[in-house]
Amino acid sequence: MSIIIDGRKTSQDIRNEVKAAVERRRAAGKTVPGLAFILVGDDPASQSYVKSKGKACEELGFHSVTERMPATASESEVLAMVERFNRDPAIHGLLVQLPLPKHIDEQKVIEAVAPEKDVDGFHPSSVGKMVIGLETFYSCTPYGIVELLKRYGIDPAGKHVVVVGRSNIVGKPIANMLLQKKPWANAVVTVAHTGAKDLAYFTKQADILIAAVGKVKAVTKEMVKPGAVVIDVGINRIDDPAAKNGTRLVGDVDYDAVKEVASAITPVPGGVGPMTIAMLMVNTLTAAERLDG
Ligand code: GUN
Repeated sequence: MSIIIDGRKTSQDIRNEVKAAVERRRAAGKTVPGLAFILVGDDPASQSYVKSKGKACEELGFHSVTERMPATASESEVLAMVERFNRDPAIHGLLVQLPLPKHIDEQKVIEAVAPEKDVDGFHPSSVGKMVIGLETFYSCTPYGIVELLKRYGIDPAGKHVVVVGRSNIVGKPIANMLLQKKPWANAVVTVAHTGAKDLAYFTKQADILIAAVGKVKAVTKEMVKPGAVVIDVGINRIDDPAAKNGTRLVGDVDYDAVKEVASAITPVPGGVGPMTIAMLMVNTLTAAERLDG
Protein backbone atom coordinates (compact mmCIF):
# COMPACT_ATOMS: atom_id res chain seq x y z
CA MET A 1 0.00 0.00 0.00
CA SER A 2 1.37 3.38 -0.92
CA ILE A 3 0.90 6.96 0.20
CA ILE A 4 -1.53 8.68 -2.15
CA ILE A 5 -0.10 12.11 -2.99
CA ASP A 6 -3.08 14.45 -2.84
CA GLY A 7 -2.66 17.20 -5.43
CA ARG A 8 -6.12 18.62 -4.74
CA LYS A 9 -5.38 19.31 -1.09
CA THR A 10 -1.83 20.52 -1.75
CA SER A 11 -2.97 22.87 -4.51
CA GLN A 12 -5.66 24.25 -2.19
CA ASP A 13 -3.04 24.84 0.53
CA ILE A 14 -0.90 26.75 -1.99
CA ARG A 15 -3.86 28.77 -3.22
CA ASN A 16 -4.69 29.71 0.39
CA GLU A 17 -1.08 30.85 0.91
CA VAL A 18 -1.13 32.93 -2.27
CA LYS A 19 -4.50 34.44 -1.31
CA ALA A 20 -3.10 35.47 2.08
CA ALA A 21 -0.05 37.03 0.38
CA VAL A 22 -2.34 39.02 -1.95
CA GLU A 23 -4.31 40.27 1.06
CA ARG A 24 -1.07 41.37 2.73
CA ARG A 25 -0.03 43.22 -0.45
CA ARG A 26 -3.39 44.95 -0.58
CA ALA A 27 -3.22 45.91 3.11
CA ALA A 28 0.28 47.34 2.56
CA GLY A 29 -1.01 49.49 -0.32
CA LYS A 30 0.85 47.44 -2.95
CA THR A 31 -0.53 46.31 -6.33
CA VAL A 32 -2.53 43.10 -6.63
CA PRO A 33 -1.11 40.56 -9.10
CA GLY A 34 -2.59 40.92 -12.59
CA LEU A 35 -2.81 38.04 -15.05
CA ALA A 36 -3.89 38.30 -18.70
CA PHE A 37 -5.06 35.40 -20.84
CA ILE A 38 -5.10 35.42 -24.62
CA LEU A 39 -7.40 32.73 -25.99
CA VAL A 40 -7.46 32.32 -29.77
CA GLY A 41 -10.22 30.23 -31.38
CA ASP A 42 -12.82 28.03 -29.76
CA ASP A 43 -11.09 24.79 -28.77
CA PRO A 44 -13.31 23.48 -25.93
CA ALA A 45 -10.40 22.18 -23.81
CA SER A 46 -8.58 25.52 -24.05
CA GLN A 47 -11.76 27.40 -23.17
CA SER A 48 -12.26 25.21 -20.14
CA TYR A 49 -8.62 25.63 -18.98
CA VAL A 50 -8.78 29.42 -19.32
CA LYS A 51 -12.09 29.49 -17.46
CA SER A 52 -10.59 27.52 -14.54
CA LYS A 53 -7.53 29.79 -14.46
CA GLY A 54 -9.75 32.89 -14.50
CA LYS A 55 -11.82 31.47 -11.64
CA ALA A 56 -8.66 30.88 -9.62
CA CYS A 57 -7.67 34.53 -10.19
CA GLU A 58 -11.05 35.65 -8.88
CA GLU A 59 -10.81 33.45 -5.77
CA LEU A 60 -7.31 34.64 -4.93
CA GLY A 61 -8.03 38.35 -5.40
CA PHE A 62 -5.98 38.78 -8.58
CA HIS A 63 -6.83 41.25 -11.29
CA SER A 64 -7.39 39.25 -14.48
CA VAL A 65 -8.31 39.92 -18.08
CA THR A 66 -9.28 37.36 -20.73
CA GLU A 67 -8.93 38.49 -24.31
CA ARG A 68 -10.79 36.16 -26.67
CA MET A 69 -9.76 36.32 -30.33
CA PRO A 70 -11.43 34.49 -33.25
CA ALA A 71 -9.73 31.44 -34.82
CA THR A 72 -9.27 33.62 -37.91
CA ALA A 73 -7.17 36.22 -36.05
CA SER A 74 -3.90 36.86 -37.88
CA GLU A 75 -0.49 36.27 -36.37
CA SER A 76 0.20 39.99 -36.32
CA GLU A 77 -3.07 40.64 -34.46
CA VAL A 78 -2.09 38.10 -31.79
CA LEU A 79 1.42 39.59 -31.57
CA ALA A 80 -0.10 43.06 -31.17
CA MET A 81 -2.27 41.80 -28.32
CA VAL A 82 0.79 40.28 -26.62
CA GLU A 83 2.56 43.64 -27.01
CA ARG A 84 -0.40 45.46 -25.47
CA PHE A 85 -0.22 43.34 -22.32
CA ASN A 86 3.59 43.51 -22.26
CA ARG A 87 3.19 47.28 -21.85
CA ASP A 88 0.23 47.21 -19.43
CA PRO A 89 1.51 48.02 -15.90
CA ALA A 90 -1.53 46.38 -14.24
CA ILE A 91 -0.58 43.05 -15.86
CA HIS A 92 2.28 41.11 -14.29
CA GLY A 93 1.75 37.76 -15.98
CA LEU A 94 0.72 36.98 -19.54
CA LEU A 95 -0.43 33.59 -20.78
CA VAL A 96 -1.24 32.75 -24.39
CA GLN A 97 -3.26 29.56 -24.24
CA LEU A 98 -1.81 26.84 -26.49
CA PRO A 99 -2.32 25.31 -28.99
CA LEU A 100 -2.76 28.22 -31.40
CA PRO A 101 -4.48 27.85 -34.78
CA LYS A 102 -2.19 26.30 -37.41
CA HIS A 103 -1.60 29.53 -39.37
CA ILE A 104 0.04 31.17 -36.35
CA ASP A 105 3.71 30.49 -35.53
CA GLU A 106 3.44 29.40 -31.89
CA GLN A 107 7.13 29.81 -31.18
CA LYS A 108 7.07 33.39 -32.48
CA VAL A 109 4.19 34.21 -30.10
CA ILE A 110 5.91 32.53 -27.12
CA GLU A 111 9.03 34.59 -27.83
CA ALA A 112 7.00 37.82 -28.02
CA VAL A 113 5.94 37.54 -24.36
CA ALA A 114 8.08 39.81 -22.16
CA PRO A 115 10.33 37.41 -20.15
CA GLU A 116 9.54 39.31 -16.92
CA LYS A 117 5.83 38.45 -17.48
CA ASP A 118 6.39 34.88 -18.75
CA VAL A 119 4.51 33.08 -15.97
CA ASP A 120 4.17 29.99 -18.22
CA GLY A 121 7.97 29.70 -18.26
CA PHE A 122 7.87 28.84 -21.97
CA HIS A 123 10.08 31.67 -23.33
CA PRO A 124 13.54 30.41 -24.41
CA SER A 125 15.02 32.95 -22.00
CA SER A 126 13.08 31.40 -19.08
CA VAL A 127 14.00 27.85 -20.15
CA GLY A 128 17.67 28.76 -20.60
CA LYS A 129 17.87 30.49 -17.24
CA MET A 130 16.21 27.51 -15.55
CA VAL A 131 18.74 25.11 -17.12
CA ILE A 132 21.74 27.12 -15.87
CA GLY A 133 20.17 27.71 -12.44
CA LEU A 134 19.36 31.44 -12.65
CA GLU A 135 16.27 33.12 -11.19
CA THR A 136 13.39 32.88 -13.67
CA PHE A 137 9.89 31.40 -13.97
CA TYR A 138 9.59 27.61 -13.84
CA SER A 139 6.85 26.23 -16.06
CA CYS A 140 3.84 25.35 -14.00
CA THR A 141 3.40 21.57 -14.35
CA PRO A 142 7.01 20.60 -13.58
CA TYR A 143 7.12 23.26 -10.85
CA GLY A 144 4.00 21.60 -9.39
CA ILE A 145 5.81 18.24 -9.29
CA VAL A 146 8.75 19.82 -7.43
CA GLU A 147 6.32 21.35 -4.93
CA LEU A 148 4.46 18.05 -4.38
CA LEU A 149 7.75 16.25 -3.64
CA LYS A 150 8.77 19.04 -1.26
CA ARG A 151 5.48 19.08 0.63
CA TYR A 152 5.40 15.29 0.97
CA GLY A 153 8.97 15.25 2.34
CA ILE A 154 10.26 13.29 -0.65
CA ASP A 155 13.86 14.47 -1.09
CA PRO A 156 15.23 13.82 -4.59
CA ALA A 157 18.84 14.49 -3.50
CA GLY A 158 21.12 11.64 -4.50
CA LYS A 159 18.20 9.57 -5.79
CA HIS A 160 17.77 8.25 -9.30
CA VAL A 161 14.92 10.09 -11.00
CA VAL A 162 13.79 8.55 -14.27
CA VAL A 163 11.60 10.76 -16.45
CA VAL A 164 9.65 9.04 -19.20
CA GLY A 165 8.85 11.65 -21.84
CA ARG A 166 10.79 14.51 -23.39
CA SER A 167 8.19 17.18 -24.12
CA ASN A 168 9.13 20.83 -23.86
CA ILE A 169 6.43 21.47 -21.26
CA VAL A 170 7.04 18.54 -18.89
CA GLY A 171 9.79 15.99 -19.62
CA LYS A 172 12.67 18.32 -20.49
CA PRO A 173 11.97 20.94 -17.80
CA ILE A 174 11.35 18.51 -14.91
CA ALA A 175 14.56 16.61 -15.77
CA ASN A 176 16.54 19.86 -15.75
CA MET A 177 14.93 21.18 -12.56
CA LEU A 178 15.65 18.04 -10.54
CA LEU A 179 19.23 18.04 -11.82
CA GLN A 180 19.93 21.45 -10.25
CA LYS A 181 22.33 21.63 -7.35
CA LYS A 182 19.58 23.03 -5.13
CA PRO A 183 18.30 21.79 -1.76
CA TRP A 184 15.03 20.56 -3.29
CA ALA A 185 16.71 18.79 -6.23
CA ASN A 186 20.26 17.41 -6.69
CA ALA A 187 19.00 14.14 -8.20
CA VAL A 188 20.72 11.85 -10.69
CA VAL A 189 18.40 12.12 -13.67
CA THR A 190 17.76 9.83 -16.62
CA VAL A 191 15.42 10.87 -19.43
CA ALA A 192 13.84 7.90 -21.19
CA HIS A 193 11.15 8.03 -23.85
CA THR A 194 9.04 5.95 -26.21
CA GLY A 195 12.06 5.56 -28.52
CA ALA A 196 13.85 3.42 -25.91
CA LYS A 197 14.56 -0.16 -27.05
CA ASP A 198 13.77 -1.45 -23.56
CA LEU A 199 11.86 1.17 -21.56
CA ALA A 200 11.46 -1.11 -18.52
CA TYR A 201 15.26 -1.41 -18.21
CA PHE A 202 15.31 2.31 -17.34
CA THR A 203 12.09 2.62 -15.35
CA LYS A 204 13.01 -0.28 -13.04
CA GLN A 205 16.04 1.69 -11.84
CA ALA A 206 13.99 4.68 -10.71
CA ASP A 207 13.74 5.73 -7.07
CA ILE A 208 11.39 8.42 -8.36
CA LEU A 209 9.62 7.64 -11.62
CA ILE A 210 7.94 10.48 -13.53
CA ALA A 211 5.62 9.41 -16.35
CA ALA A 212 4.81 12.10 -18.92
CA VAL A 213 4.19 10.23 -22.15
CA GLY A 214 0.50 10.70 -22.89
CA LYS A 215 -0.21 6.98 -23.28
CA VAL A 216 -2.55 4.79 -21.21
CA LYS A 217 -0.70 2.11 -19.17
CA ALA A 218 2.69 3.22 -20.51
CA VAL A 219 3.96 2.27 -17.02
CA THR A 220 2.89 -1.12 -15.66
CA LYS A 221 3.64 -2.79 -12.31
CA GLU A 222 6.50 -4.85 -13.79
CA MET A 223 8.26 -1.62 -14.79
CA VAL A 224 8.39 -0.21 -11.25
CA LYS A 225 10.94 -0.98 -8.54
CA PRO A 226 9.17 -1.84 -5.25
CA GLY A 227 9.21 1.22 -2.97
CA ALA A 228 9.62 3.75 -5.79
CA VAL A 229 7.76 7.07 -5.79
CA VAL A 230 5.58 7.32 -8.91
CA ILE A 231 4.48 10.67 -10.34
CA ASP A 232 1.90 10.40 -13.13
CA VAL A 233 1.63 13.45 -15.37
CA GLY A 234 -0.54 11.79 -18.03
CA ILE A 235 -4.09 12.93 -18.75
CA ASN A 236 -5.81 10.49 -21.10
CA ARG A 237 -9.54 10.19 -21.72
CA ILE A 238 -10.80 6.62 -22.10
CA ASP A 239 -14.19 5.06 -22.72
CA ASP A 240 -15.96 3.90 -19.58
CA PRO A 241 -19.56 2.73 -20.00
CA ALA A 242 -20.02 2.97 -16.19
CA ALA A 243 -19.17 6.70 -16.16
CA LYS A 244 -21.80 9.44 -16.41
CA ASN A 245 -20.70 10.74 -19.82
CA GLY A 246 -19.25 7.41 -20.99
CA THR A 247 -15.62 8.43 -20.51
CA ARG A 248 -13.15 9.03 -17.70
CA LEU A 249 -9.64 10.38 -17.21
CA VAL A 250 -6.66 8.13 -16.54
CA GLY A 251 -2.93 8.78 -16.39
CA ASP A 252 0.04 7.06 -18.03
CA VAL A 253 0.46 4.64 -15.11
CA ASP A 254 -1.52 1.46 -14.48
CA TYR A 255 -2.60 2.99 -11.18
CA ASP A 256 -4.42 0.13 -9.42
CA ALA A 257 -1.56 -2.32 -9.93
CA VAL A 258 1.32 0.14 -9.45
CA LYS A 259 -0.04 1.53 -6.18
CA GLU A 260 0.52 -1.91 -4.66
CA VAL A 261 4.30 -1.67 -5.20
CA ALA A 262 5.02 2.07 -5.05
CA SER A 263 5.81 3.79 -1.73
CA ALA A 264 3.90 6.89 -2.91
CA ILE A 265 1.89 7.68 -6.03
CA THR A 266 -0.10 10.51 -7.59
CA PRO A 267 -3.63 9.63 -8.75
CA VAL A 268 -5.24 10.88 -11.97
CA PRO A 269 -7.29 12.96 -11.62
CA GLY A 270 -6.34 14.74 -8.39
CA GLY A 271 -2.54 14.42 -8.49
CA VAL A 272 -0.29 16.61 -10.61
CA GLY A 273 -3.18 18.18 -12.57
CA PRO A 274 -4.53 20.61 -9.93
CA MET A 275 -0.98 21.77 -9.15
CA THR A 276 -0.55 23.45 -12.54
CA ILE A 277 -3.02 26.26 -11.83
CA ALA A 278 -1.74 26.69 -8.26
CA MET A 279 1.81 27.21 -9.56
CA LEU A 280 0.56 29.65 -12.20
CA MET A 281 -0.83 31.71 -9.33
CA VAL A 282 2.49 31.44 -7.46
CA ASN A 283 4.39 32.59 -10.58
CA THR A 284 2.06 35.55 -11.09
CA LEU A 285 2.44 36.63 -7.46
CA THR A 286 6.23 36.35 -7.91
CA ALA A 287 6.02 38.43 -11.11
CA ALA A 288 4.13 41.18 -9.24
CA GLU A 289 6.71 41.13 -6.44
CA ARG A 290 9.59 41.36 -8.92
CA LEU A 291 8.01 44.10 -11.04
CA ASP A 292 6.33 46.24 -8.36
CA GLY A 293 8.05 45.26 -5.12
N1 GUN B 1 -2.07 24.44 -23.01
C1 GUN B 1 -2.04 23.33 -22.25
N2 GUN B 1 -1.35 23.56 -21.12
C2 GUN B 1 -0.94 24.85 -21.17
C3 GUN B 1 -0.20 25.67 -20.27
O1 GUN B 1 0.26 25.27 -19.20
N3 GUN B 1 0.00 26.95 -20.69
C4 GUN B 1 -0.47 27.42 -21.87
N4 GUN B 1 -0.22 28.68 -22.19
N5 GUN B 1 -1.16 26.68 -22.72
C5 GUN B 1 -1.39 25.40 -22.36
